[in-house]
Amino acid sequence: MHTDSMRSALVWIFTLNVCLQILFIPGGDSKPHPRFREKITEDYNPGFISIDCGASNDYLDEETSIFFKTDTDFIETGENFLTSSQFIQTNDPDLGRQLHTLRSFPEGNRNCYTLKPEYKQGEQKSYLIRAMFGYGNYDGKNHAPTFDLYLGVNYWINVNTATNSYIWTEIIHAPTTDTIQVCLVNIDTGTPFISSLELRPLSTSIYQIMSQSYLHLKGRFDVGGPVVNFYKRYKDDIYDRRWYWRDVKDWYKINTTIDVNKSGNDIYQVPAEILKTAVQSFNRSYDLYHDYEIEWNVHLNKYSRYYVYFHFAEIQKLAPGLRRIINITLNDENILSEPITLEYMKPVTISNKNATQGFVRFSIRATAESDAPPILNAFEVYELITDLNSPTDIKDVDAMENIKRYYGISRIDWQGDPCVPEIFRWSGLDCSYGINPRIISLNLSSSKLGGQIAASVSDLSELQSLDVSDNSLNGFVPESLSQLEYLRILNIGGNKLSGSIPAKLIERSKNGSLILSVDGNQNLCTSTQCHKRNRVVIPLVVTLVGAFILSAVSLFVFRRVQVVVSMTKLKFSNKMEYVDSKKQEFSYSEVQSITNNFERVVGKGGFGTVYYGCIGETQVAVKMLSHSSTQGVQQFQTEANILTRVHHRCLTPLIGYCNEGTRTALIYEYMTNGDLAEKLSGQSQTFLGWEQRFQIALDSAIGLEYLHNGCKPPIIHRDVKTRNILLDENLRAKISDFGLSRIFSDDGDTHVSTAIAGTPGYLDPEYNTTNRLNEKSDVYSFGIVLLEIITGRTVILKAQVRTHIIKWVSSMLADDGEIDGVVDTRLQGEYDSEAARKVIDVAMACVAPSSVNRPTMNQVVMELKQCFPVGKLGTTSTGSSEIVSAGEISGLSSLAR
Ligand SMILES: *[C@@H]1O[C@H](CO)[C@@H](O)[C@H](O)[C@H]1NC(C)=O
Ligand SMILES: *[C@@H]1O[C@H](CO)[C@@H](O)[C@H](O)[C@H]1NC(C)=O
Ligand SMILES: *[C@@H]1O[C@H](CO)[C@@H](O)[C@H](O)[C@H]1NC(C)=O
Ligand SMILES: *[C@@H]1O[C@H](CO)[C@@H](O)[C@H](O)[C@H]1NC(C)=O
Ligand SMILES: *[C@@H]1O[C@H](CO)[C@@H](O)[C@H](O)[C@H]1NC(C)=O
Ligand SMILES: *[C@@H]1O[C@H](CO)[C@@H](O)[C@H](O)[C@H]1NC(C)=O
Ligand SMILES: *[C@@H]1O[C@H](CO)[C@@H](O)[C@H](O)[C@H]1NC(C)=O
Repeated sequence: MHTDSMRSALVWIFTLNVCLQILFIPGGDSKPHPRFREKITEDYNPGFISIDCGASNDYLDEETSIFFKTDTDFIETGENFLTSSQFIQTNDPDLGRQLHTLRSFPEGNRNCYTLKPEYKQGEQKSYLIRAMFGYGNYDGKNHAPTFDLYLGVNYWINVNTATNSYIWTEIIHAPTTDTIQVCLVNIDTGTPFISSLELRPLSTSIYQIMSQSYLHLKGRFDVGGPVVNFYKRYKDDIYDRRWYWRDVKDWYKINTTIDVNKSGNDIYQVPAEILKTAVQSFNRSYDLYHDYEIEWNVHLNKYSRYYVYFHFAEIQKLAPGLRRIINITLNDENILSEPITLEYMKPVTISNKNATQGFVRFSIRATAESDAPPILNAFEVYELITDLNSPTDIKDVDAMENIKRYYGISRIDWQGDPCVPEIFRWSGLDCSYGINPRIISLNLSSSKLGGQIAASVSDLSELQSLDVSDNSLNGFVPESLSQLEYLRILNIGGNKLSGSIPAKLIERSKNGSLILSVDGNQNLCTSTQCHKRNRVVIPLVVTLVGAFILSAVSLFVFRRVQVVVSMTKLKFSNKMEYVDSKKQEFSYSEVQSITNNFERVVGKGGFGTVYYGCIGETQVAVKMLSHSSTQGVQQFQTEANILTRVHHRCLTPLIGYCNEGTRTALIYEYMTNGDLAEKLSGQSQTFLGWEQRFQIALDSAIGLEYLHNGCKPPIIHRDVKTRNILLDENLRAKISDFGLSRIFSDDGDTHVSTAIAGTPGYLDPEYNTTNRLNEKSDVYSFGIVLLEIITGRTVILKAQVRTHIIKWVSSMLADDGEIDGVVDTRLQGEYDSEAARKVIDVAMACVAPSSVNRPTMNQVVMELKQCFPVGKLGTTSTGSSEIVSAGEISGLSSLAR
């Protein structure tokens, strides 16, 4: 309906003729000043998104003081081009470098930029969005194309630029979604392209932005100013509106050098530079009249509706007692309930409350009481666009985005809204077109999909048909599929799915309400009988290649294997591997899916944030490493690969890793009882008794000893602390974060590392000063851990004076040599004092200032064991003998309990 009007709409066209008048000093494609390259962040242009399409690097545009980015973060498709140098020279230099490059889209019918503006929770969103197009004969064809521009699912404008000119177009919009898409649509009249795309946050109280509508800028004029050929914009205008001067015959120019008073509640924030100039009529009985169509020689659609914003500020000091009172009519309707008296230097903005229709003719006149003729400082004209299309239901959109990311699907037509407009519906989808379109069918058959059936599929709650047949999907058929109540067709045939089919789905297929196709999945059990048994087999189950195949065995066999294994003392442990050993590396999208898009933070450490997740039925902790490795991608992979094969019952099993560009993550088995620091803090529900504490001390010592002596080359932990000692469901300790130092250090054999890792308080003072890393640094940190276990105090005691735990223990012991004051009073004397003394002795030896005086972890383990009669503690088996020999790979110990 509004299409015609918009196609004929006036856009900013600067022809060669106009621009030839401009004196332009060619700046070439000068590199941004190095001074500005450094960390120019949001505080430079808060909330702005500025994309110089086709640019090869981010830069600060010194003309405009705006920091422009490349397309990289906003679109995946298209190709970059340079415009001709002649074009650049003939066009307005004030637009900065954005006309130098462009991005064009030879492929696909619709290509979309996705903008994710920042906004504060609860705040209403409202943005100015501007796109610019300068063809500049980039393709040498000397013929500018014509194409359509969409804002999300709604038509915005037909881009039709002349070969030697550029166009820009602007919309003010209050979206209901968090993301905004700007799409270029090929209408078979040439290859779409774009030069720049900008988004500016607005204060919502300005302009009449209603939901389900937007304002399309027709014109924004600074009247009364001198003749200039550039736009006034940022930084004069905090909203980066572009103002163009306008000279109208019969209007007299007036100006002032004094800035208008900005301290009032002037929400429109029209720049002082704009308000300082104005036009005035000849005399009080003469109107300031403007007919938009006549002035611009255009024809407005008689169905379109418009808003006009008049900006005033009295810039003439009238004689005392004299007043300037004005009355405004727009299309012959009075838009003021009563005439307004302009006050000196006080900005005021007037607009029509009800959009006017068909044309834009206004008249500003002085009332009979006015002592001065009417004036006008600036004005803006917007077309109101209503009757917007509804986008696809947001839950479906999110689900599709997750599915797309999870499988890494890059189909040219999978851009923009999945269902709307219908002609651009994503391939493989079918939608119902109600008030909010919904996805009712997803067909991804023969799409080379790997991984599992994406959990997000179950979020497509109105799905009637799902076809993921003939891919390489593995894992289970998610139970959640049975929650899709409208599902009538489910085809998962021709994959590598295992386990069983959710019973409800089988039921539905039996009574005819679901057409279920599952053929061609070798390990998929199709009867309800196998249901229970199969659940035991999780992807992390260990198999003995050659000896036992454990891939889909019953619990019974499973147990027997363990027995055999422990009897044979792990002789053939080097032949073991994960069933799913290939699955050690995860893609970022898999990590997203595993963590349900980083839903739950379970910890924060020096190396990054830890998220809760699930792989199949295994709970995992995903540590996103906050800084990327100093080593290469390859090396990270190698290291992570090795670490996933280091298994010991006193180490947190590392299941896998992700290494995608700067996104690196380590995936551990999740430890239900959290970390030791928390348990000791007293904030946790469980209170650790003496025996539990001793067991934890011993387990941790054994874990460290294994890292030092059981691995080849040895692994030095470098960040031993109570936070890195995790407790499983039986409160047995497991060292976590081992090997991070391997991944992060570039020390090679010299053990001289460039970056000192570790946590204050735990850091070996010798290592700190010499920067020489050896395993005795771990011994030192472990000594601190022992002291914490004994005393129940934190490493830095937060009394009035911050005291280190070593100092505190030493001074307590120095007083009377008695340990009573040292041991955690919360134990209420319930401890073996002899053993406690021994542990304190070991701890103090570990924290000896000089590393040569510290024991090895091997000695520590032996000493600790002597403190406690064997057998008194759980089922602790003796350290080293049980440990897999150096360099060997075992997945057993984590199962052997
Ligand atoms: C202000 O008005 C004076 C007098 O008409 C004119 O000479 C001058 O150029 C104007 N200045 C601006 C900035 O418009
Ligand atoms: C600016 O406006 C404020 C509030 O309207 C007023 O208090 C102040 O006196 C004004 N300042 C000048 C210089 O006019
Ligand atoms: C006001 O100016 C107009 C245009 O110059 C002129 O025709 C008219 O006579 C003037 N009126 C008065 C009262 O001066
Ligand atoms: C608002 O303007 C439209 C179009 O000019 C008109 O049809 C409508 O009656 C007006 N509404 C009000 C409340 O004045
Ligand atoms: C303002 O203009 C309207 C419409 O032309 C008119 O009806 C009204 O009387 C005017 N008010 C004054 C105070 O001149
Ligand atoms: C999915 O698409 C394939 C290939 O286009 C087709 O053979 C199959 O019938 C479709 N599945 C459904 C459920 O429509
Ligand atoms: C088929 O079974 C499902 C699940 O038990 C049930 O919800 C559905 O109503 C049944 N449909 C028919 C047609 O019996």
